[in-house]
Amino acid sequence: NLDYAGYLKSWIRTVPNWPHDGVMFRDITPVLQNPKTFRLLIDIFVHRYMDQKIDMVAGLDARGFILGSVLAYELNVGFIPIRKKGKLPFTTVAEEYELEYGNATVEMHTDACKAGDRIVLIDDLIATGGTMMAGYKLLTRLGAEVIETAAIVDLPELGGSKLIKDKQIPLFTICDFE
Ligand code: PRP
Ligand code: HPA
Repeated sequence: NLDYAGYLKSWIRTVPNWPHDGVMFRDITPVLQNPKTFRLLIDIFVHRYMDQKIDMVAGLDARGFILGSVLAYELNVGFIPIRKKGKLPFTTVAEEYELEYGNATVEMHTDACKAGDRIVLIDDLIATGGTMMAGYKLLTRLGAEVIETAAIVDLPELGGSKLIKDKQIPLFTICDFE
């Protein structure tokens, strides 16, 4: 049948109490492991963006790299890695954001994109939305246009997807976990 979202969701593994007690970790690695589900996953994104005149795909460290690089290749556009602090060698722009405990910083090369570029920003999952918002800010600081933010999984109870949509930023996710 055509319930691709429900089918992919059934391939996401839940690992209780990882990385901390009380967390139900939604693990996408089984989707990547099976060639049929990996292809279906990427094809959902390719189909969504293939006619949208996308210039670049940006992916968030680390699981956004797995999805984003394959998506960029399929769309025949370039890929921008948005990395955790201290990993990129050239001049960078940085955005700090809040985690459950403490802060984190993501960075992007200053020449990674140019003003007016039409970009899809992708990661595996939206929890508090901090990582996706930080990536969005980096791209827009360089004048790029984020056509859509995208992820496989939304955890709506953590409020990230609401925060992103309340800022009028387009967000596409394939499935939810409560
Ligand atoms: C996870 C996930 C997202 C982010 C979501 O990455 O892959 O990038 O957290 O959380 P948020 O919406 O609250 O920001 P993690 O920081 O575990 O990094 P990793 O991919 O390097 O393991
Ligand atoms: N899975 C993957 N990444 C995450 C999760 C999760 O359940 N929660 C916060 N980041």
